[in-house]
Amino acid sequence: MSVLDAFMAPFECKSFRARNRFAMAPMSRYFAPNGILADASIDYYRRRIEGGIGTVITEAVAIDRVESVAADTVPRFWGAEALAAWDKVRADVHAAGGAIVPQLWHVGGCEDFNFPDSPHAPLESPSGIVGPDVQGGRVMSEQDIADVIASFARGAADAKRIGCDAVELHGAHGYLFDQFFWELTNRRTDRYGGPDIADRVRFTVEVIEAVRQAVGPDYAIIFRISQWKTYMYEAKIAHNPQEMERWLLPLADAGVDIFHCSDRRFWEPTFAESDLNLAGWAKKVTGKATITVGSVGLDRDLMADFVEGESVPSLKSLNELARRFDRGDFDMVAVGRALLSDPQWLEKVQSGRISELKPYSRDLMMETLY
Ligand SMILES: Cc1cc2nc3c(=O)[nH]c(=O)nc-3n(C[C@H](O)[C@H](O)[C@H](O)COP(=O)(O)O)c2cc1C
Repeated sequence: MSVLDAFMAPFECKSFRARNRFAMAPMSRYFAPNGILADASIDYYRRRIEGGIGTVITEAVAIDRVESVAADTVPRFWGAEALAAWDKVRADVHAAGGAIVPQLWHVGGCEDFNFPDSPHAPLESPSGIVGPDVQGGRVMSEQDIADVIASFARGAADAKRIGCDAVELHGAHGYLFDQFFWELTNRRTDRYGGPDIADRVRFTVEVIEAVRQAVGPDYAIIFRISQWKTYMYEAKIAHNPQEMERWLLPLADAGVDIFHCSDRRFWEPTFAESDLNLAGWAKKVTGKATITVGSVGLDRDLMADFVEGESVPSLKSLNELARRFDRGDFDMVAVGRALLSDPQWLEKVQSGRISELKPYSRDLMMETLY
């Protein structure tokens, strides 16, 4: 018996059928020269499925708008050559028994902190700012907004056309959707801005409605959210459960099937009144399925790793993960760095081969696609 046994049950939501509850978290790797995925990426993703993970959520991929990403090694999800490469990844993941979900990305006004000197088109954002006192991108016109909505819809339609099991929209960590949500980065006075989160969700609602229209009623749409941002760890979109409702219910009504809820540490409460994390609250508020993520199996959170050293495997939190899962707080769990460093992470944890787990380091992330 392993503490993770309960996670081995299959999960199904519309088009998305996963053989177990473990997903590989989306992780940008920058191994796509001119936006075309390197062949090594195909093996990289398949290896995680061979190691027992049920679903690959891909690294964030650019929608078909030059303003959408800030580095030329981010893979594209548009154009025949780029999509053919993704189709190969899809075929390999499926052949190995896994499900695959591309994560569609628009960075808004955020320069790429991993590759600040990479060439890219001028960026765009809701109000020309990406954080307190941080400029980023030109202010988007209503035409820009309409064009971005159409690009997301085309990306989702392509995900379905090449046989991916669902599509995820990257609404977390301070990028475009988040810049519209957050009061500090959305200062618009048109219908895409306003004093309440209910005003600032309109852009995202329109994207989700367009995506739903493009993929039809039976295709699963996953939306990733976070309170924290790469520019500010303590930032919050929702300061209380009522704001959480005004943030997430419109998105659910527009067509989101699953909320992928990014915490830096999954065991930390979102609000003071209960121990529920972000996935727990999203499920309670919307009734939709949720995915939790954040420091599963590691001793240190993501942003600490970006600044310094190495995170060593630490399994003490898995009992807590299982307790929350048994309570029904979330339906799936995504694992990031632990899986980046060790494709056999799940097998090893389940069979108690803890001493064989490989530690994660930032150098590993930059240097290899193993
Ligand atoms: C190298 C790296 C790249 C990442 N890229 C993305 C990304 O493209 N999209 C995204 O939503 N999150 C991204 N993240 C965040 C992860 O998906 C995940 O939420 C985070 O690493 C916490 O999970 P972990 O503690 O299991 O690593 C990235 C994380 C890492 C370490």
